[in-house]
Amino acid sequence: MRVVSGIQPTGNLHLGNYLGAIRRWVRMQDEAECLFFLADLHAITVWNDPAELAANVREMAAALIACGIDQGRSVLFNHARVPAHPELAWILNCTARIGWLNRMTQFKEKSGKNKEGASVGLYAYPVLQAADVLLYQATHVPVGEDQKQHVELIRDIATKFNTDYGVELFTLPEPLIGATAARIMSLRDGTAKMSKSDPSDMSRINLTDDSDTVAQKIRKARTDPAPLPETVDELDGRPEARNLVSIYAELSDATPADVLAQFAGQGFGAFKPALAELLVETLRPIKARLDALRADPAELDRILETGATRAAERARPTLDGAYQAVGLRRSGG
Ligand code: TYM
Repeated sequence: MRVVSGIQPTGNLHLGNYLGAIRRWVRMQDEAECLFFLADLHAITVWNDPAELAANVREMAAALIACGIDQGRSVLFNHARVPAHPELAWILNCTARIGWLNRMTQFKEKSGKNKEGASVGLYAYPVLQAADVLLYQATHVPVGEDQKQHVELIRDIATKFNTDYGVELFTLPEPLIGATAARIMSLRDGTAKMSKSDPSDMSRINLTDDSDTVAQKIRKARTDPAPLPETVDELDGRPEARNLVSIYAELSDATPADVLAQFAGQGFGAFKPALAELLVETLRPIKARLDALRADPAELDRILETGATRAAERARPTLDGAYQAVGLRRSGG
Protein backbone atom coordinates (compact mmCIF):
# COMPACT_ATOMS: atom_id res chain seq x y z
CA MET A 1 0.00 0.00 0.00
CA ARG A 2 1.43 3.37 -0.98
CA VAL A 3 -0.42 6.50 0.08
CA VAL A 4 -0.12 9.96 -1.47
CA SER A 5 -2.15 13.06 -0.66
CA GLY A 6 -1.83 16.83 -0.61
CA ILE A 7 -3.32 20.02 0.68
CA GLN A 8 -3.17 23.58 -0.60
CA PRO A 9 -1.20 25.90 1.67
CA THR A 10 -3.78 28.67 1.66
CA GLY A 11 -5.07 30.05 4.96
CA ASN A 12 -5.45 27.97 8.05
CA LEU A 13 -6.03 24.28 8.42
CA HIS A 14 -9.70 23.90 9.38
CA LEU A 15 -11.70 21.12 10.97
CA GLY A 16 -12.93 19.86 7.57
CA ASN A 17 -9.34 19.35 6.38
CA TYR A 18 -8.40 17.80 9.70
CA LEU A 19 -11.25 15.28 10.00
CA GLY A 20 -11.72 14.74 6.25
CA ALA A 21 -8.06 14.21 5.46
CA ILE A 22 -5.18 14.98 7.84
CA ARG A 23 -6.21 12.87 10.81
CA ARG A 24 -6.59 9.93 8.48
CA TRP A 25 -3.16 10.64 6.97
CA VAL A 26 -1.68 10.52 10.45
CA ARG A 27 -3.24 7.14 11.13
CA MET A 28 -2.15 5.67 7.81
CA GLN A 29 1.52 6.27 8.58
CA ASP A 30 1.56 3.01 10.52
CA GLU A 31 -0.01 0.98 7.73
CA ALA A 32 1.54 2.22 4.52
CA GLU A 33 4.42 4.01 2.85
CA CYS A 34 3.19 7.61 2.86
CA LEU A 35 4.03 10.80 0.98
CA PHE A 36 2.24 14.03 1.92
CA PHE A 37 2.78 17.41 0.34
CA LEU A 38 1.76 21.04 0.32
CA ALA A 39 0.27 21.76 -3.08
CA ASP A 40 1.80 25.21 -3.50
CA LEU A 41 1.78 24.98 -7.30
CA HIS A 42 -1.99 24.50 -7.01
CA ALA A 43 -2.29 27.51 -4.75
CA ILE A 44 -1.06 29.87 -7.51
CA THR A 45 -3.90 28.89 -9.86
CA VAL A 46 -5.75 31.81 -8.24
CA TRP A 47 -4.12 35.06 -7.11
CA ASN A 48 -2.07 34.59 -3.97
CA ASP A 49 0.05 37.28 -2.38
CA PRO A 50 3.66 36.02 -2.85
CA ALA A 51 4.84 36.90 0.66
CA GLU A 52 1.75 35.29 2.16
CA LEU A 53 2.19 32.15 0.08
CA ALA A 54 5.75 31.70 1.33
CA ALA A 55 4.56 32.11 4.92
CA ASN A 56 1.60 29.79 4.36
CA VAL A 57 3.82 26.98 3.09
CA ARG A 58 5.77 27.00 6.36
CA GLU A 59 2.61 27.50 8.40
CA MET A 60 0.88 24.53 6.79
CA ALA A 61 3.98 22.35 7.12
CA ALA A 62 4.04 23.20 10.82
CA ALA A 63 0.33 22.43 11.10
CA LEU A 64 0.73 19.00 9.50
CA ILE A 65 3.63 18.12 11.79
CA ALA A 66 1.66 19.40 14.80
CA CYS A 67 -1.23 17.12 13.79
CA GLY A 68 1.12 14.13 13.81
CA ILE A 69 2.69 13.83 10.35
CA ASP A 70 6.08 12.46 11.23
CA GLN A 71 8.88 12.95 8.74
CA GLY A 72 10.59 9.90 10.23
CA ARG A 73 7.78 7.72 8.93
CA SER A 74 6.47 9.77 5.99
CA VAL A 75 7.89 11.95 3.26
CA LEU A 76 6.69 15.53 3.78
CA PHE A 77 7.48 18.14 1.12
CA ASN A 78 6.10 20.95 -1.01
CA HIS A 79 5.38 20.79 -4.74
CA ALA A 80 7.56 23.71 -5.74
CA ARG A 81 10.73 21.98 -4.54
CA VAL A 82 10.10 18.88 -6.69
CA PRO A 83 10.09 19.79 -10.42
CA ALA A 84 9.09 16.23 -11.36
CA HIS A 85 5.48 17.29 -10.60
CA PRO A 86 5.10 20.00 -13.27
CA GLU A 87 7.27 17.95 -15.66
CA LEU A 88 4.98 14.94 -15.54
CA ALA A 89 1.92 17.21 -15.53
CA TRP A 90 2.97 18.56 -18.95
CA ILE A 91 3.15 15.06 -20.42
CA LEU A 92 -0.22 14.18 -18.87
CA ASN A 93 -1.75 17.39 -20.27
CA CYS A 94 -1.21 15.75 -23.62
CA THR A 95 -3.10 12.62 -22.50
CA ALA A 96 -6.02 14.23 -20.63
CA ARG A 97 -8.93 15.29 -22.85
CA ILE A 98 -10.60 18.70 -22.77
CA GLY A 99 -13.98 16.98 -22.46
CA TRP A 100 -12.85 15.28 -19.25
CA LEU A 101 -11.73 18.54 -17.67
CA ASN A 102 -14.95 20.23 -18.76
CA ARG A 103 -16.79 17.91 -16.40
CA MET A 104 -14.82 18.88 -13.28
CA THR A 105 -17.28 20.42 -10.82
CA GLN A 106 -14.54 22.14 -8.77
CA PHE A 107 -13.49 24.22 -11.77
CA LYS A 108 -17.11 25.21 -12.32
CA GLU A 109 -17.46 26.19 -8.65
CA LYS A 110 -14.15 28.02 -8.40
CA SER A 111 -14.36 29.88 -11.71
CA GLY A 112 -17.97 30.88 -11.02
CA LYS A 113 -19.60 33.06 -13.65
CA ASN A 114 -16.31 34.29 -15.05
CA LYS A 115 -14.93 31.15 -16.76
CA GLU A 116 -13.26 33.13 -19.54
CA GLY A 117 -11.33 35.09 -16.94
CA ALA A 118 -10.10 32.02 -14.97
CA SER A 119 -6.44 31.01 -15.33
CA VAL A 120 -5.46 28.12 -17.60
CA GLY A 121 -3.79 26.68 -14.48
CA LEU A 122 -7.08 26.55 -12.60
CA TYR A 123 -8.62 24.63 -15.49
CA ALA A 124 -5.70 22.23 -15.90
CA TYR A 125 -4.92 21.73 -12.23
CA PRO A 126 -6.58 18.30 -11.93
CA VAL A 127 -3.86 17.12 -14.36
CA LEU A 128 -1.14 18.37 -12.03
CA GLN A 129 -3.00 16.51 -9.30
CA ALA A 130 -2.79 13.37 -11.46
CA ALA A 131 0.98 13.84 -11.76
CA ASP A 132 1.21 14.28 -7.97
CA VAL A 133 -0.26 10.84 -7.41
CA LEU A 134 0.99 8.86 -10.43
CA LEU A 135 4.64 9.87 -9.94
CA TYR A 136 4.77 7.77 -6.78
CA GLN A 137 2.73 4.76 -7.94
CA ALA A 138 0.21 5.50 -5.20
CA THR A 139 -2.35 2.79 -4.52
CA HIS A 140 -4.51 4.91 -2.21
CA VAL A 141 -5.38 8.60 -2.00
CA PRO A 142 -7.05 9.65 1.27
CA VAL A 143 -9.23 12.70 0.55
CA GLY A 144 -12.56 14.28 1.43
CA GLU A 145 -15.61 13.72 -0.78
CA ASP A 146 -14.96 16.91 -2.79
CA GLN A 147 -11.79 15.37 -4.31
CA LYS A 148 -13.40 12.09 -5.41
CA GLN A 149 -14.01 13.27 -8.97
CA HIS A 150 -10.38 14.33 -9.31
CA VAL A 151 -9.15 10.90 -8.20
CA GLU A 152 -11.45 9.26 -10.74
CA LEU A 153 -9.94 11.51 -13.40
CA ILE A 154 -6.47 10.36 -12.33
CA ARG A 155 -7.51 6.77 -13.05
CA ASP A 156 -8.81 7.76 -16.50
CA ILE A 157 -5.58 9.59 -17.35
CA ALA A 158 -3.43 6.67 -16.13
CA THR A 159 -5.47 4.14 -18.09
CA LYS A 160 -5.33 6.16 -21.31
CA PHE A 161 -1.58 6.76 -21.02
CA ASN A 162 -0.85 3.09 -20.34
CA THR A 163 -3.08 2.05 -23.29
CA ASP A 164 -1.90 4.71 -25.76
CA TYR A 165 1.76 3.86 -25.24
CA GLY A 166 1.34 0.13 -24.59
CA VAL A 167 3.03 0.31 -21.18
CA GLU A 168 2.16 -0.63 -17.63
CA LEU A 169 3.76 2.45 -16.18
CA PHE A 170 1.11 3.95 -13.93
CA THR A 171 -0.68 2.29 -11.01
CA LEU A 172 -4.41 3.06 -10.79
CA PRO A 173 -5.07 4.68 -7.39
CA GLU A 174 -8.20 4.28 -5.25
CA PRO A 175 -9.73 7.22 -3.39
CA LEU A 176 -10.00 6.58 0.35
CA ILE A 177 -12.94 8.54 1.68
CA GLY A 178 -13.99 8.38 5.33
CA ALA A 179 -17.55 7.39 6.15
CA THR A 180 -18.55 10.13 8.59
CA ALA A 181 -16.09 12.96 7.96
CA ALA A 182 -16.14 12.86 4.16
CA ARG A 183 -17.86 16.23 4.12
CA ILE A 184 -17.73 18.45 7.18
CA MET A 185 -20.17 21.29 6.62
CA SER A 186 -20.13 25.01 7.41
CA LEU A 187 -21.26 25.97 10.92
CA ARG A 188 -23.45 28.68 9.39
CA ASP A 189 -25.07 26.58 6.65
CA GLY A 190 -25.37 22.80 6.86
CA THR A 191 -25.68 22.50 3.07
CA ALA A 192 -22.32 24.17 2.23
CA LYS A 193 -18.98 22.48 2.94
CA MET A 194 -16.67 23.95 5.56
CA SER A 195 -14.11 25.83 3.49
CA LYS A 196 -11.19 28.21 3.84
CA SER A 197 -12.67 30.34 1.08
CA ASP A 198 -15.89 31.07 3.01
CA PRO A 199 -15.73 34.81 3.85
CA SER A 200 -17.20 34.20 7.33
CA ASP A 201 -14.67 32.93 9.86
CA MET A 202 -17.65 31.85 12.02
CA SER A 203 -18.40 29.16 9.42
CA ARG A 204 -15.32 27.10 10.33
CA ILE A 205 -13.17 25.95 13.23
CA ASN A 206 -9.52 26.71 12.50
CA LEU A 207 -6.94 24.51 14.15
CA THR A 208 -5.37 27.70 15.47
CA ASP A 209 -8.55 29.01 17.16
CA ASP A 210 -8.20 29.50 20.91
CA SER A 211 -10.59 27.84 23.37
CA ASP A 212 -12.87 30.88 23.73
CA THR A 213 -13.18 31.26 19.96
CA VAL A 214 -14.02 27.57 19.53
CA ALA A 215 -16.66 27.76 22.27
CA GLN A 216 -18.15 30.90 20.75
CA LYS A 217 -18.27 29.45 17.23
CA ILE A 218 -20.03 26.32 18.46
CA ARG A 219 -22.44 28.35 20.61
CA LYS A 220 -23.36 30.46 17.57
CA ALA A 221 -23.44 27.52 15.13
CA ARG A 222 -26.74 27.38 13.31
CA THR A 223 -29.11 24.66 14.54
CA ASP A 224 -32.83 23.96 14.64
CA PRO A 225 -35.13 24.06 17.68
CA ALA A 226 -35.85 20.30 17.90
CA PRO A 227 -33.99 18.07 20.38
CA LEU A 228 -31.57 15.43 19.10
CA PRO A 229 -33.42 12.39 17.72
CA GLU A 230 -32.97 8.72 18.59
CA THR A 231 -31.97 7.47 15.15
CA VAL A 232 -29.60 8.65 12.44
CA ASP A 233 -32.43 8.50 9.85
CA GLU A 234 -34.26 11.21 11.77
CA LEU A 235 -31.36 13.58 11.03
CA ASP A 236 -32.56 13.67 7.40
CA GLY A 237 -33.64 17.19 6.54
CA ARG A 238 -31.66 18.54 9.53
CA PRO A 239 -28.27 19.23 7.91
CA GLU A 240 -26.91 21.40 10.73
CA ALA A 241 -27.80 18.84 13.41
CA ARG A 242 -26.35 16.04 11.28
CA ASN A 243 -23.11 17.98 10.84
CA LEU A 244 -22.60 18.64 14.57
CA VAL A 245 -23.38 15.01 15.39
CA SER A 246 -20.89 13.86 12.73
CA ILE A 247 -18.19 16.12 14.15
CA TYR A 248 -18.82 14.83 17.67
CA ALA A 249 -18.75 11.24 16.41
CA GLU A 250 -15.46 11.71 14.57
CA LEU A 251 -13.77 13.45 17.48
CA SER A 252 -14.80 10.73 19.92
CA ASP A 253 -14.05 7.85 17.50
CA ALA A 254 -17.68 6.79 17.68
CA THR A 255 -20.50 6.48 15.14
CA PRO A 256 -23.33 9.02 14.81
CA ALA A 257 -25.64 6.30 16.22
CA ASP A 258 -23.46 6.09 19.37
CA VAL A 259 -23.63 9.86 19.78
CA LEU A 260 -27.42 9.86 19.46
CA ALA A 261 -27.66 7.03 21.97
CA GLN A 262 -25.94 9.37 24.42
CA PHE A 263 -27.73 12.64 23.57
CA ALA A 264 -31.20 11.65 22.21
CA GLY A 265 -33.92 13.87 23.64
CA GLN A 266 -31.48 16.59 24.69
CA GLY A 267 -31.47 20.02 23.10
CA PHE A 268 -28.50 21.87 21.62
CA GLY A 269 -28.20 23.78 24.88
CA ALA A 270 -26.74 20.59 26.36
CA PHE A 271 -25.07 19.17 23.26
CA LYS A 272 -23.15 22.25 22.14
CA PRO A 273 -21.08 22.71 25.34
CA ALA A 274 -20.15 19.00 25.25
CA LEU A 275 -19.06 19.35 21.61
CA ALA A 276 -17.10 22.54 22.33
CA GLU A 277 -15.27 20.81 25.18
CA LEU A 278 -14.37 17.84 23.00
CA LEU A 279 -13.06 20.17 20.31
CA VAL A 280 -11.00 22.23 22.73
CA GLU A 281 -9.46 19.06 24.20
CA THR A 282 -8.61 17.74 20.71
CA LEU A 283 -7.08 21.00 19.52
CA ARG A 284 -5.14 21.89 22.68
CA PRO A 285 -2.11 19.61 22.13
CA ILE A 286 -2.04 20.37 18.39
CA LYS A 287 -1.97 24.10 19.07
CA ALA A 288 0.80 23.73 21.64
CA ARG A 289 2.99 21.80 19.17
CA LEU A 290 2.17 24.30 16.42
CA ASP A 291 3.32 27.24 18.54
CA ALA A 292 6.64 25.52 19.21
CA LEU A 293 7.22 24.67 15.53
CA ARG A 294 6.39 28.19 14.35
CA ALA A 295 9.18 29.54 16.48
CA ASP A 296 11.79 27.88 14.22
CA PRO A 297 11.14 28.65 10.51
CA ALA A 298 14.67 27.58 9.51
CA GLU A 299 13.98 24.09 10.88
CA LEU A 300 10.74 23.92 8.87
CA ASP A 301 12.64 24.83 5.70
CA ARG A 302 15.19 22.14 6.48
CA ILE A 303 12.44 19.54 6.94
CA LEU A 304 10.84 20.51 3.62
CA GLU A 305 14.18 20.46 1.81
CA THR A 306 14.95 16.95 3.12
CA GLY A 307 11.44 15.82 2.17
CA ALA A 308 11.88 17.22 -1.34
CA THR A 309 15.13 15.30 -1.86
CA ARG A 310 13.47 12.07 -0.78
CA ALA A 311 10.39 12.73 -2.94
CA ALA A 312 12.50 13.54 -6.01
CA GLU A 313 14.40 10.24 -5.64
CA ARG A 314 11.16 8.30 -5.47
CA ALA A 315 9.62 10.18 -8.41
CA ARG A 316 12.54 9.76 -10.78
CA PRO A 317 11.98 6.22 -12.16
CA THR A 318 8.36 6.98 -13.08
CA LEU A 319 9.23 10.33 -14.61
CA ASP A 320 12.00 8.74 -16.70
CA GLY A 321 9.55 5.97 -17.67
CA ALA A 322 6.98 8.52 -18.86
CA TYR A 323 9.56 10.33 -21.03
CA GLN A 324 10.73 7.04 -22.49
CA ALA A 325 7.18 5.87 -23.17
CA VAL A 326 6.46 8.94 -25.31
CA GLY A 327 9.81 8.59 -27.12
CA LEU A 328 11.80 11.32 -25.36
CA ARG A 329 14.72 11.41 -22.99
CA ARG A 330 15.38 13.72 -20.09
CA SER A 331 18.86 15.06 -19.59
CA GLY A 332 20.51 12.49 -17.33
CA GLY A 333 17.44 10.24 -17.61
P1 TYM B 1 -7.71 21.11 -0.31
O1 TYM B 1 -6.49 21.86 0.05
O2 TYM B 1 -8.91 21.89 -0.74
O3 TYM B 1 -8.17 20.19 0.90
C1 TYM B 1 -7.27 19.26 1.55
C2 TYM B 1 -8.03 18.01 1.98
O4 TYM B 1 -9.10 18.35 2.89
C3 TYM B 1 -10.33 17.80 2.41
N1 TYM B 1 -11.43 18.70 2.79
C4 TYM B 1 -12.53 18.31 3.44
N2 TYM B 1 -12.93 17.12 3.91
C5 TYM B 1 -14.11 17.06 4.57
N3 TYM B 1 -14.91 18.15 4.77
C6 TYM B 1 -14.55 19.38 4.32
N4 TYM B 1 -15.33 20.42 4.54
C7 TYM B 1 -13.31 19.49 3.62
N5 TYM B 1 -12.65 20.55 3.04
C8 TYM B 1 -11.50 20.04 2.54
C9 TYM B 1 -10.15 17.70 0.90
O5 TYM B 1 -11.01 16.75 0.31
C10 TYM B 1 -8.70 17.29 0.78
O6 TYM B 1 -8.56 15.89 0.95
N6 TYM B 1 -6.58 19.50 -4.94
C11 TYM B 1 -6.43 19.23 -3.51
C12 TYM B 1 -4.99 19.12 -3.07
C13 TYM B 1 -4.21 18.14 -3.87
C14 TYM B 1 -4.29 16.73 -3.79
C15 TYM B 1 -3.35 16.25 -4.73
C16 TYM B 1 -5.04 15.85 -3.00
C17 TYM B 1 -3.29 18.45 -4.80
N7 TYM B 1 -2.77 17.31 -5.33
C18 TYM B 1 -3.16 14.88 -4.91
C19 TYM B 1 -4.83 14.48 -3.21
C20 TYM B 1 -3.91 14.00 -4.14
C21 TYM B 1 -7.08 20.36 -2.71
O7 TYM B 1 -7.24 21.44 -3.22
O8 TYM B 1 -7.37 20.02 -1.41
